[in-house]
Amino acid sequence: MSSKIVNVAVIGTGVVGSAFLDQLFAMKSKISYHVIMIANAQHALISKDYSPLQLGSKWESELDKSPESPLALETLLAFLKNSPAPAILVDNTSNEAIAKFYPQFIEGGISIATPNKKGFSSGLELWNQIFSDKPNAGLVYHEATVGAGLPIIGTLRDLVQTGDKVEKIEGIFSGTLSYIFNEYSTTSSNDVRFSDIVKIAKKLGYTEPDPRDDLNGLDVARKVTILARIAGFKVESPSSFPVQSLIPQPLESVATAAEFLEKLPLYDDDLKKLKDEAAKENKVLRFVGKVDFPNNSVSVGIEKYDYGHPFASLKGSDNVISIKTERYVNPLVVQGAGAGSAVTAAGVLADVIKIAERV
Ligand SMILES: NC(=O)c1ccc[n+]([C@@H]2O[C@H](COP(=O)([O-])OP(=O)(O)OC[C@H]3O[C@@H](n4cnc5c(N)ncnc54)[C@H](OP(=O)(O)O)[C@@H]3O)[C@@H](O)[C@H]2O)c1
Repeated sequence: MSSKIVNVAVIGTGVVGSAFLDQLFAMKSKISYHVIMIANAQHALISKDYSPLQLGSKWESELDKSPESPLALETLLAFLKNSPAPAILVDNTSNEAIAKFYPQFIEGGISIATPNKKGFSSGLELWNQIFSDKPNAGLVYHEATVGAGLPIIGTLRDLVQTGDKVEKIEGIFSGTLSYIFNEYSTTSSNDVRFSDIVKIAKKLGYTEPDPRDDLNGLDVARKVTILARIAGFKVESPSSFPVQSLIPQPLESVATAAEFLEKLPLYDDDLKKLKDEAAKENKVLRFVGKVDFPNNSVSVGIEKYDYGHPFASLKGSDNVISIKTERYVNPLVVQGAGAGSAVTAAGVLADVIKIAERV
């Protein structure tokens, strides 16, 4: 009996995309994964006759040399619709235009695996289109959009689909803010300044080039939007609920990241007061996202936790999620690395495997 074949088209060859391709090419499986396209923003390798690209570890140099440009989304849709084997589009970008095109791909029978949050955390209308369950639609898996490779989205979907009732979701969903608060607010007293920790986090490469892109809380708001929607909360957009920004208001508009970091120490006292208050109650500060069904609320911001709480003993830049449901009265907790090329790529690859097994 000949083995099952799926055709895989990969867009995005950055941190996650390149690790994904390396893992895919190294994988042994009964299913044949034929890579028929690899594209980044500049170049593309396309197998017009749908035969597998014979690349292995050479894919990167071949892509750099390729004179072909990435296909326009309409052209890519037509190419994948004509695929003789089931087609999977792997979107390893953070591009919004590609995400807005997911409904057309899915309706065209093309499945999607992606760590790109944009399709699932923008307007509710796009979410509804993506999950509209049309006949012969492609499958959509996006485990790595929250907590990288950690089993969060699949776990939450399983709880909901089996009839459990989610009461509360609470978690630390930003590796950067996890690191910053784990170092800043600890169970033993320390005198570190918030601004110094932010500078160290930037030096270690944990922050975006401008740390304000982490401190504004928006990335966490997008992840919480995704989780809330899976749990049944009709969140309109990531700006439709309260999101606490850690950027002092006067520093929101300073021109450069360097100027922001230089002036940040002027505002250390505000957070220090909060941290000292928490310490007096034997608590630490953590930056969390929350979905609270009994209170009908979704929020992102600083919360205090007892020294004995699992969030208080978090280390490094780990993510953690706690899900309290009707069945899990003591919350179900998932913890581990929530970013990084290998774990994120593995999350995407595991989704590709699930799709290949189901199409
Ligand atoms: N890095 C992590 O640890 C992590 C964890 C969880 C989730 N994610 C998510 O994973 C996704 C990828 O992250 P990353 O860190 O790999 O980003 P990255 O290193 O910036 O790579 C992005 C890739 O997308 C390509 N790209 C952008 N727009 C494109 C377009 N219109 N057409 C074709 N290619 C396009 C870029 O092409 P060029 O190379 O030509 O610029 C680049 O190869 C993001 O959605 C991110 O939020 C990342």
